[in-house]
Amino acid sequence: MTDHDTGRQSHAPRVFVACDLPESVQALFRERFAAACNDKGRTLTPPELLAGAQGMDVLVLTATDRLDAELAGRLPASVKVVCTYSIGMEHLDVGVLKARGIAVLATPDVLNESCADVALLLMLGAARRVVESAALVRGGEWKGWTPRQLLGVDFWGRRLGILGMGRIGRAIAKRARGFDMEIHYHNRSRLAAEFELGATYHADLADLAAHSDFLCVACPSNADTKGLVNAGVIARLPANSVICNISRGDIIDDEALVAALKSGAVAAAGLDVYTGEPNIHPAYRELPNVFGLPHIGSSTESTRLAMGRLLCDGIEAFFEGKEPVNRVA
Ligand code: DGY
Repeated sequence: MTDHDTGRQSHAPRVFVACDLPESVQALFRERFAAACNDKGRTLTPPELLAGAQGMDVLVLTATDRLDAELAGRLPASVKVVCTYSIGMEHLDVGVLKARGIAVLATPDVLNESCADVALLLMLGAARRVVESAALVRGGEWKGWTPRQLLGVDFWGRRLGILGMGRIGRAIAKRARGFDMEIHYHNRSRLAAEFELGATYHADLADLAAHSDFLCVACPSNADTKGLVNAGVIARLPANSVICNISRGDIIDDEALVAALKSGAVAAAGLDVYTGEPNIHPAYRELPNVFGLPHIGSSTESTRLAMGRLLCDGIEAFFEGKEPVNRVA
């Protein structure tokens, strides 16, 4: 319903939260809007998603809800805003949404610090052989300290290469400076000095790799970045290097990384994201030099609440005729 004098909605926006959000975040949507939430505890099928979106002003999805061109084209005409409870956008056909005049909101910025924490956790855990170490303790097979036991590679003082020096990349760099690391990065274009903060720019990714004792993938997944970290790039890494990925699995060529981890060309990998999640490359479950986490980059209570608040604020702003700060299309 629209108020003809102001052009604004005269009712609380009707919101369909199609993804299975934490209860505290569902409560935010219910407090602020006429919200219906996914109560199935799983990802909805396309017919379920379309049925739930009928008559709704807003549809809330997350990274595991694929809204391809076909499905985006079939969204009910009532839908004016699609929100994604994620920073990643690769699951949405933004072109079709834009063409249909549907606004897109996401959750930038609020998860930078939590994701950067996990990047450090991954790099430290991989470098210091946490998988093998923890298994020794938990398996009851530890025979006591020896000078030869579980020698890893140092993290502090080494060269960190960041692929994608956006807001998360810069939050990683900030932490790494505390470990006396030398920061290198590759982006499509060089950052202004105020963002670079002394980091060395490499226009060529293979050149970045050659200067990276630790290579951390923090760029978004899109047509330009898929498979970017391939055998050629991996071959340029120095001996005893460590690869980390907190962005999306498809940026790394799995076969190339697995071969390098098996041969020892790469010492270890710390991975939070994978191609085909949750059906990951089997070697990532088996190799002792892979420290794998189940896509927990932004998984803290407070970050997940902040992501929800940001979407709610954006929806409210949109229907008040203002520009939401988190509008991405
Ligand atoms: C994000 O926000 O994109 C996280 O990776 C969850 O998908």
